[in-house]
Amino acid sequence: VKPGIAGPRIDCLPEPSGNQTVCESRGCIWNPVDNDIDGAPWCYFKDGVGYNLASQIGSTYNLRKNNGPRNPWGAEFENIQLRTSTIGASVLNVKIGIDGRYEPPVDFPRETISTPETLSFTTASSDDLFWFSVIRNSSNRKIFDTSLGGLIFSDQFLQLSTYLPSENVYGWGENAHQSLKHNFSRYLTWGMLARDQPPNSGNLDTMNLYGVHPFYMCLEPDGNAHGVFIFNSNPQEVTTAPGPSLIYRTIGGNLDIYFFPGPTPALVTQQYLAFIGKPFLPAYWALGYQLSRYGYNGLDEMKQRVGAVRDAGIPLDIAVADIDYMNRYKDFSTNDNWSGFEDYVKQMHGWNMKMIPIFDPAVEADYLPFQRAMSMGAKFIEWDDYSQVQQDIQKLYPMAKDTKIMLGVVWPDHHVGFPDFLDSTGKTQAWWRDELELYHSKLTFDGIWIDMNEPANFGTNELHPWYFDDNDHPNDAPLFCPTNGSNQWDLPPFQTHAVYYYGGNQNNAYLSSKTLCLTGVQNNGTYRFYDVKNLYGLTEAIQTQAALMDVTGKRGAVVSRSTFPSAGRYAGHWLGDNTARWEDLRTSVIGAQEFNLFGIPYVGSDVCGFLGQSNEELCLRWQQMGAFHSFFRNHNTLGEPAQDPAVWPSVASATKTANLFRYQYLPYLFSLHFQASQNGLTVVRPVFFEYPSDTETFDLGYQFMWGPRILVAPVLHQGAVTTNLYLPNDVWYSLFDYKYGSQIDAGYITVPSPITYRIPVFVRGGSAVPRQTPTTTTTMSRHNSFELLVAPCQMGRAVGVLYWDDGQKIVDSFDTHDFHQFNFNFNSTSSGAQLTISRTRMGTVALPTMDIIEIFNYPSPPNFRSFTLNGSTVNINVQSSTYSGITKILYISTKNL
Ligand code: NOJ
Repeated sequence: VKPGIAGPRIDCLPEPSGNQTVCESRGCIWNPVDNDIDGAPWCYFKDGVGYNLASQIGSTYNLRKNNGPRNPWGAEFENIQLRTSTIGASVLNVKIGIDGRYEPPVDFPRETISTPETLSFTTASSDDLFWFSVIRNSSNRKIFDTSLGGLIFSDQFLQLSTYLPSENVYGWGENAHQSLKHNFSRYLTWGMLARDQPPNSGNLDTMNLYGVHPFYMCLEPDGNAHGVFIFNSNPQEVTTAPGPSLIYRTIGGNLDIYFFPGPTPALVTQQYLAFIGKPFLPAYWALGYQLSRYGYNGLDEMKQRVGAVRDAGIPLDIAVADIDYMNRYKDFSTNDNWSGFEDYVKQMHGWNMKMIPIFDPAVEADYLPFQRAMSMGAKFIEWDDYSQVQQDIQKLYPMAKDTKIMLGVVWPDHHVGFPDFLDSTGKTQAWWRDELELYHSKLTFDGIWIDMNEPANFGTNELHPWYFDDNDHPNDAPLFCPTNGSNQWDLPPFQTHAVYYYGGNQNNAYLSSKTLCLTGVQNNGTYRFYDVKNLYGLTEAIQTQAALMDVTGKRGAVVSRSTFPSAGRYAGHWLGDNTARWEDLRTSVIGAQEFNLFGIPYVGSDVCGFLGQSNEELCLRWQQMGAFHSFFRNHNTLGEPAQDPAVWPSVASATKTANLFRYQYLPYLFSLHFQASQNGLTVVRPVFFEYPSDTETFDLGYQFMWGPRILVAPVLHQGAVTTNLYLPNDVWYSLFDYKYGSQIDAGYITVPSPITYRIPVFVRGGSAVPRQTPTTTTTMSRHNSFELLVAPCQMGRAVGVLYWDDGQKIVDSFDTHDFHQFNFNFNSTSSGAQLTISRTRMGTVALPTMDIIEIFNYPSPPNFRSFTLNGSTVNINVQSSTYSGITKILYISTKNL
């Protein structure tokens, strides 16, 4: 298929306005079509855009601009190079670029895992057009095919197009997706620029959000999976188009592409995460339930809401303090109406609770922490040269005198600077650490929430920013970027859909909208903000995690709004400022699966909805679903009524039930995180990860697997009292109120789900799942006895694993980390059942006993006196052990196993 009405068109006029004259002046084809059909561009490139092969030396291909059409957004480089290499045996790198151009300063481990699967690179050409393909050797399948043309390489516009082997494509981010799988029946362009942009979960919304993840996974028609990562940090976008095809555009750097062969979805993730870095292991307590809101009117209100949730008997681990706790929103300060906060934190610690405060990167330019930064030689994001400095504003800030600091406006009353976490002298990082340490000596926080790190700036380029109308911001004058046409960074020739999407809407009219001017610099002018802006959240997360571990001596947990590949090594993520609407509940189910593909398994959404007023039913369903997300936090915005679960008795009761279930399965959830950190796995994962040969699972976004063993089908629709779901061909047992413990037939099924039930949850046959008797904090639950749920497969077998450490020690390396590992192996035959528990790794942490073994589908009444385990006799607590011939559940209460 060649470009034309029937085939993929490569857009030549992506800007919001334009016409036939503009189109033709670009040398492109104007051919209007009915946009309702597939959104095809009316103006598109002629065939033959690209380069030809000038010469080849080994795996280096010298390419020369061909005679085809030229790029309207700047002159192409006449000569570029394509180099291929392999990393380990299986990861293929194709790098199209020019030596000496900007490369993102991100340090990936670039490790590989061994797999027999390999890819090969082939090139071809017709007339004067060069293209390449990537082929899976085992099946001879083309997984990437640039014969579509469209290769453009100019200084500030780079484009690469490819046909895809199937429409089963997952990922690219950060965007809110309505379905897990992309839709290739239409042209949709997804912006990737880190911006303080709340998701709009409306239909076909392609807005760019807080982070940038140029990674996708594709399931080929025969079920093999591969992954593709484009290592580029500039503002960028991708069009998913009929073909199926992809058109990727970026406005800087190189086209540095990594292919991961899989061939299973799990192996793709392992290969990708070995390369970019595996996720950090959160402290055990960080898997507990968190209560947050923006707009507590003082410490008393926090105490009241935390108290209400605790009084309702709802498991709760973490109180979160939003910017309200600060004095006039200044980092490292405490508001007057929060006096006594440290005493309260101590009291919470006594209840085995933890506290996570927020820190913003925007630091007011006229108080002590800023002064200390200046005297330590810490750096902030700067203007390129002194002539750009905002003279009128800077004279208000004597501490910033004679600096080039770019002054912005965020929550504090006065102007702010943004720490430069790329400062190669390390002074900025040392100052950030010292401030956190000093503040920790006053307020003993346990984890850190970093927000607004796109970085967000209010009112950039806006004449009348609405939030400056109040007296909160008496001295503020917004930041104006040099957007007079001569500034190639703030007004580059091509500005991506982060600008075009909004069709001239003032709030997002520039790349610099809601952020700093792209003409800025970091590390003493070494890096242009235009290039590194998308790395700001990542670099802040790296330093914040290091500081947290240093200051507390424990691993804790950091959660960050803006992310980039490898951010999962340092922090988790929440899905940002969603709205209290059913569609936002639904998109968050998909968002959490995607962030697991991106290597950030400590992820979740603002439970009950952030913007807008929540309501009883929505909040209840969100609490029930969120109980399966690793980062599990109820959070609400300023001015909206309280929405913690204690507000409504029905929500309190459903949340208590959901949280107790989560806390009961925490040893399993923790083990999933342990394996994710050690081996680069996912925690919440799409169902197709476990069933890649079942095409019914390919777009099952509203269900998910909780690790390999548990399937969750949340209730996501208002008024629903039943749930339709799909169980892949396997043995399944219900884990919720409907037929608990019974085998449920695979296929499409409808199960009852009134609000008084837990949401539908199923355990897969073949599973031995470690649990623990739950209580109201994770720390106390950890002392309770273990349990083991055994759900046998058809053959009567089950396996599982438990990882256990002290829950807080810093993990320097898993080789030396102090942990236990137990493997469970259950086998039942006609002559009896046998459970083997083997300790494959011995740690020093004290272990509770295992007092309960619950076995599903146990065929006949057992002998209840005793059993032998690993050769020794274990006494059974006969009074509290049961067997039902109807449910076939054998429940064994042991004595101190
Ligand atoms: C924006 C964050 O996304 C939100 O969660 C937070 O409440 C506000 N900033 C205030 O800090």
